[in-house]
Amino acid sequence: MHTCPVFDWEAAWHAALYGPSGFFARGEKPSAHFRTSPLVGPELAVALVELLSRVDAALGFPPVVDFVDVGAGGGELAFAVRSLATGSLAARLRVTAVELGPPVELPGVRWTSAVPECVGLLVGHEWLDSIPCPVVTGPSSDPWITRWWPSLADGAQAEVGAPRDAAWAAAVASVRGAALAVDYGHLVSSRRFTLTGYRAGRQVPVVFDGSCDITAHVALDACAAAAGGDRVLVSQRDALAALGLTGTVSGSGWEWLESAARAGRIAELRDPAGLGSFGWLLHGNGIPVSSLLPPLPPWCPDPASFPEL
Ligand SMILES: C[S@@+](CC[C@H](N)C(=O)[O-])C[C@H]1O[C@@H](n2cnc3c(N)ncnc32)[C@H](O)[C@@H]1O
Repeated sequence: MHTCPVFDWEAAWHAALYGPSGFFARGEKPSAHFRTSPLVGPELAVALVELLSRVDAALGFPPVVDFVDVGAGGGELAFAVRSLATGSLAARLRVTAVELGPPVELPGVRWTSAVPECVGLLVGHEWLDSIPCPVVTGPSSDPWITRWWPSLADGAQAEVGAPRDAAWAAAVASVRGAALAVDYGHLVSSRRFTLTGYRAGRQVPVVFDGSCDITAHVALDACAAAAGGDRVLVSQRDALAALGLTGTVSGSGWEWLESAARAGRIAELRDPAGLGSFGWLLHGNGIPVSSLLPPLPPWCPDPASFPEL
């Protein structure tokens, strides 16, 4: 009897991104293929320096305070945080970019390929969506699907988020201070199959030949539970406002022009139908999350406003 070999989605996805000639492994950077919040301008970094300052204060101003950017891509966020920090924070700040692809020479940023132990703030900005997953077809007895995707219909496909849960739990455990995952995603109440490709600014069909980025939305509720502890899951729109990022236009002449451009960038980062709908999953490890953000509404991604599909 002839039986078809089972296609190993996770292995194919991994090879396509991180194998010897994989998309990210060979040095492709997001800026050539898609727009992420760090590429909009320095405003996300402004908000994260504010968050880092709150972490620093909650930790009692340690001699060295880390900003660790996991899945750093071209290092834009790490470099912006390094450049924007001032005063005592800047003097004690150590910025690390964690990246599987080749490093980029940037002043004040050290590069590594493994998440280090750290004291301060660890950020995974659009990191978890790039972690390959198995794909199953319903009905499935996979324990992750049973727990986190109970609505999976017969014949429908689903990404199994277990590798992302494990990666996030390990990252949160590696930091004393706070860990923040920022990503597009869904909740148990709004799951859907989202595996897709990106190349040169366009969404493209998934091919596992290393020619495109391959991504899928993140089950952030599952990641939150896997890492455990004190945490909140809120929208980027609300979190940025709570960190002081609300653009207003003021002044005259050139100053007015600059404030209008800045307000436009903040509006893009907070757009509820775009980047503002991203989830911010913030864990405190040794410090309370309530010392970092005020109470905010829980993240409630609207499937109709998913920015990428
Ligand atoms: C979608 S890009 C995001 C880049 C950047 N954070 C941004 O938002 O512009 C994801 C990046 O994560 C990196 N990556 C994925 N898994 C990783 C891991 N386990 N360790 C380090 N980097 C990883 C990829 O190589 C890729 O550069």
